[in-house]
Amino acid sequence: MCGIVGYIGRREAYPILIKGLHRLEYRGYDSAGVALINADGKLNVYKAKGKVADLEHAVESKDVSGTIGIAHTRWATHGEPNQVNAHPHYSESEELAIIHNGIIENYAVLKEGLIQHGYTFKSATDTEVLVQLIEYIKHTDKVDLQTAVQLALNQVVGAYAIAVLDRSNPDIIVAARKGSPLVVGIGDGEYFLASDATPIVEFTDKVVYVGEEEIVCLERGKELTLKTIGNVVKTPVVKKLELTLSQLEKGGYPHFMLKEIFEQPTTLATSMRGRVNVEQNNITLAGFIDNKEKFLKAKRIIITACGTSWHAGLIGMYAIEEFARIPVEVEYSSEFRYRKPVIDQDDVVIAISQSGETADTLAAVELAKSHGAFIFGICNVVGASIPRAAHSGCYTHVGPEIGVASTKAFTAQVTVLTMLALMIGRERGTLSEERYLQIVAELGKIPDKIGEILKQNDRIAEFAKTFTYAQNFIYLGRGYNYPVAMEGALKLKEISYIHAEGYPAAEMKHGPIALISQEMPVVVIAPQCGTYEKVVSNIQEIKARKGRIISVVTEGDEIVRHMSDYAITIPQTEECLAPLLAVVPLQLLAYHIAVVKGCDVDQPRNLAKSVTVE
Ligand code: G6P
Repeated sequence: MCGIVGYIGRREAYPILIKGLHRLEYRGYDSAGVALINADGKLNVYKAKGKVADLEHAVESKDVSGTIGIAHTRWATHGEPNQVNAHPHYSESEELAIIHNGIIENYAVLKEGLIQHGYTFKSATDTEVLVQLIEYIKHTDKVDLQTAVQLALNQVVGAYAIAVLDRSNPDIIVAARKGSPLVVGIGDGEYFLASDATPIVEFTDKVVYVGEEEIVCLERGKELTLKTIGNVVKTPVVKKLELTLSQLEKGGYPHFMLKEIFEQPTTLATSMRGRVNVEQNNITLAGFIDNKEKFLKAKRIIITACGTSWHAGLIGMYAIEEFARIPVEVEYSSEFRYRKPVIDQDDVVIAISQSGETADTLAAVELAKSHGAFIFGICNVVGASIPRAAHSGCYTHVGPEIGVASTKAFTAQVTVLTMLALMIGRERGTLSEERYLQIVAELGKIPDKIGEILKQNDRIAEFAKTFTYAQNFIYLGRGYNYPVAMEGALKLKEISYIHAEGYPAAEMKHGPIALISQEMPVVVIAPQCGTYEKVVSNIQEIKARKGRIISVVTEGDEIVRHMSDYAITIPQTEECLAPLLAVVPLQLLAYHIAVVKGCDVDQPRNLAKSVTVE
């Protein structure tokens, strides 16, 4: 949550910062701000409530000159989203300005101390406390900015990625991180700073990922310097960025979410590339092979994740238990980390996270690690905190996912989990070679089958219009498709603000059936599989109560199609792979309902893509 950008070099900073903020807007979009030091040494701070476009509007007649600056897009934690609470924040003397992503947990105590030293506060934020503390230390200890930041951070409890400007030294940006991501781009006589590499990609492919509790100094005309908060000097490790500009653009689609839904045939093929060899009927996951023993001796697998990634984890549980016969527990990271879980040295913990930065999942990983468990990360963003904290893992490789509602990351997570389940099952001998080969062959066909489903987009867009009246939706599925029902419901509530619940179909009669009337749309995921007949009975129960049925059925299924108000077909596939197909129409349905309702699909209210606060 919150995106931060910085620039120091020869160019005008403002256009670079604004473009960077647009790229990072997925991280938070309730207010935005920028700080620049102009050629006269004046430190100008401008802020606006709302989106980055509102900030651009607000600064139209202002002096935005300067070759050094920092900027921020916010997702409010302390203090409501308004102009005063927006970042950057000045220090008392307006000599320093700070931007911050994270939470200073002990801000109240620090604030009290500063008030006693005569400091006053304009905002309700924890961030303003930090910049005042830095200034206080800088003045009282008579130290430079970097040392003041370092000393201040030694007093801070919490999470942060920060960047600080100092009016008295317009040639330096000091930045630091703990828990929130931060990356530095190295250009020709210039430095870029951002929460992720997306604002940097068009300027340089040389990046340094700032590590935990590290402080970095971007100084005009000087080498990058790095040290820890404990004052240990480190050598920056420069990496090559694997990201292209075209991956960050909408490519003719009206929204990133639609683009990302339509990318799935390609992204899944990429996720499988070099891993699923259909000709040789084989799967190779290096992260598994290198650590095979850990999986083979595991008495239990714990999957930990949040949101959509948690739904993928549930599907992973079905697959691992079916093929590998190892007990699996799927945990919300936020619950797992605080409920004193029993974690054994023989446990394998799989952490799933698109961003690789979700604070609760990262904390769950650290907790499990401290108990000696083996951690396997399934993440999308290369070099993010969770893959770095994990012992091993597997990237999903779907490219940047920008729509806040996750789509292509989900299908890739399910694909990776399925590959993993098949590999463990084969190695353990709990999955016959024949079944293994059948499923591997079918996995290779999934991208094309998703392509077939996407051809129904126009029809889904058409009938979606009839459901914008709804206040509530129920999604039903069984077995592998129960998590799909939950994921479909999550998509709808995230972007259309319609209340929706995903339920195991048979549980309907234990409560939700009371809600069913002709006003109530019920989405039933009913592909041909082991529980098909039972789901048909559930549909009959809904029909008997005049519920409106949208079904997801296997091609050629006339029975459920006739019982439904609207049916969307998916090609025949293996039961364990059905989620990869069944979720696609649900993504499209949610998308089109949200579009007709006029909702901001890519940036739904109150949400953020990367949740770096707990
Ligand atoms: C936020 C996002 C969701 C995402 C969840 C977990 O809530 O809006 O789309 O599923 O975080 O994120 P992660 O990056 O850990 O998968």
